[in-house]
Amino acid sequence: MKHLLVTGGAGFIGSEFVRHMASTHPDWKIVCFDKLTYAGNLDNLTPVQELPNYAFVQGDIADREVVRYTFEQHQIDTVVNFAAESHVDRSILDPDAFVISNTVGVNILLDAARQHGIERFLHVSTDEVYGDIEGDHLSVENDPFMPNSPYAASKAGGELLVRAYHVTHGMNTVITRGSNTYGKYQYPEKLIPFFITEALEDKPLPLYGDGRQVRDWLYVHDHVTGIETALLHGQSGEAYNVAGENRQHNIDVVRLLLSLLGKPESLIRYVPDREGHDARYAMTAQKLKALGWERQYTFEAGLKATVDWYLAHPEWWRKIKTGAYLEFYQRQYAERLKASKGQGE
Ligand code: NAD
Ligand code: DAU
Repeated sequence: MKHLLVTGGAGFIGSEFVRHMASTHPDWKIVCFDKLTYAGNLDNLTPVQELPNYAFVQGDIADREVVRYTFEQHQIDTVVNFAAESHVDRSILDPDAFVISNTVGVNILLDAARQHGIERFLHVSTDEVYGDIEGDHLSVENDPFMPNSPYAASKAGGELLVRAYHVTHGMNTVITRGSNTYGKYQYPEKLIPFFITEALEDKPLPLYGDGRQVRDWLYVHDHVTGIETALLHGQSGEAYNVAGENRQHNIDVVRLLLSLLGKPESLIRYVPDREGHDARYAMTAQKLKALGWERQYTFEAGLKATVDWYLAHPEWWRKIKTGAYLEFYQRQYAERLKASKGQGE
């Protein structure tokens, strides 16, 4: 029996991982550890909250004492770290929290894990550490780091600490680098859930720049099975790309979404670009595939499942789109929308 700590398990991908692992590994004890920031949501964990092999602890990975206590209290032997500030636009507005959680917090978690003598530490990272990928190159795991946003830089900092604990202290570590992930329970600030929920209310969809940026889309369940594969079979000290290998221009993603929703393209508004916007992310998942992982969802199937979930769960996202969410919306979009253009304008 493993005693697994999942940090950031109340967020989007972390909660899918908790739900998946609690059902596929009923003999494991799963402890979800989460600060419950604006992005953490206990509603995401309703399906597991009564399971006998599940427990929840509210805490901050940058708080040494609560982390140490949790390791001891629950006899943790395995860690999967999802905990992070995750939204690029917020990192441009307010970078401090990103450095604290994504870099300093990772160090505190690693140090506590080392002192506790855990067996394996998997750190969840991102393709953004590679930066803007030119031409038709596909990033491989030993490519250099060229992070461009404060978010990406803070994630690169966290990764470098994981590497250092492996080399310096011989810690058993694995890193995964996921591509753009979408699916149910995603906080409606990221492109896909933001645009679905705005379009459902016939609100303008603020597309940055010319909308020709490329992202590699990965359905959340496939991301989670990629992390599970790396956790169970990855080699210590190695990193693994979890790539959807499904590269799309943003404008094409938005057009497909609108057609699934039966909404007009006139909702699209071209707004001034994100500062430092990376034009293209692209990775190969060859190394993870060699461990036996394959993605199961096509983009069309994943997007349809996602749209259907948001249509069926308005109570989940309507509760979020109030208060502080609306303040962020004003800060991020009010001026941009004033300067926006529609198609052909
Ligand atoms: P999310 O914002 O939905 O969830 C993050 C969770 O971490 C929240 O529950 C939040 O409360 C918690 N958290 C934040 N700071 C914390 C702290 N200091 N201590 C404890 N908990 C804290 O994010 P997500 O999209 O699910 O991303 C999860 C991880 O996956 C992140 O590390 C992110 O960098 C990485 N990632 C995300 C994507 C993506 O497309 N969303 C792709 C690749 C990698
Ligand atoms: O690539 C992995 C990363 O993907 C993760 O590490 C991050 O945690 C996650 O937030 C995501 O980062 P992006 O910045 O790529 O995701 P986002 O959904 O914010 O934006 C996707 C693309 O859509 C990007 O090119 C910016 C564009 N966009 C986004 C928003 C929110 C718009 O054009 N308009 C918008 O309003």
